[in-house]
Amino acid sequence: MKFFIDTADLKEIEEAASWGVLAGVTTNPSLYARIGGKLADFSTHIQRICALVDGPVSAEAVGTSRNDIVREARELAALAANVAVKIPIGIEGLAATRVLANEGIPVNVTLVFSVPQAIMAARAGARYISPFIGRFDDIGEDGLAQIADISDAVANYDWRGVGIGDEEPEIIAASIRSVQHVAQVALLGIDIATVPFNILEKCLTHPLTDQGIAAFLNDWEKVLQA
Ligand code: E4P
Repeated sequence: MKFFIDTADLKEIEEAASWGVLAGVTTNPSLYARIGGKLADFSTHIQRICALVDGPVSAEAVGTSRNDIVREARELAALAANVAVKIPIGIEGLAATRVLANEGIPVNVTLVFSVPQAIMAARAGARYISPFIGRFDDIGEDGLAQIADISDAVANYDWRGVGIGDEEPEIIAASIRSVQHVAQVALLGIDIATVPFNILEKCLTHPLTDQGIAAFLNDWEKVLQA
């Protein structure tokens, strides 16, 4: 499983990139608003993020008609070679995804909550498909069971030639709320998890690791005093 970070915060991205495991970034309008982002700075901000990571950086189109989405997506894709355009699933989004995939622009189809949505996104040429786990759990459904079903359904088919060249669509586990979510999507073999910075940090901590380090340092002091 590859790790993406789910944030628009440059400091968080830079820090996570320094750990040597970061394969991409996902942003969305809410994450950009959360850092106090302004429209005038948006393009530059996406370019800064793209310069911090080698992998794909999802930047979301906010248009609601296929023509507006395609226009916006082309502008976003022109910002950097590693931009993936994020587009919410729906009729207009699907139509735009097909146009963009035909142009070789990678699309991350977002806000996916069902198997049919995921399969139709893949059929439209999506490079990435993002089922949201936490938000599905929030309404009393089972986000992990849903992403497992989506993964199985996508794996039923050969997608070569459907999207961009022979690239298979990759599933991004999104709306991750806990270390347990990270563990569970890895056990399911999901391609990518996009994880908020605080949960990435938590993934690296364990009380027994902390206790073990403290004991080793304590014993090493004895060696130094001997
Ligand atoms: C994914 O690409 C989304 O940005 C994100 O995972 C949404 O997560 P949330 O439900 O915690 O807002």
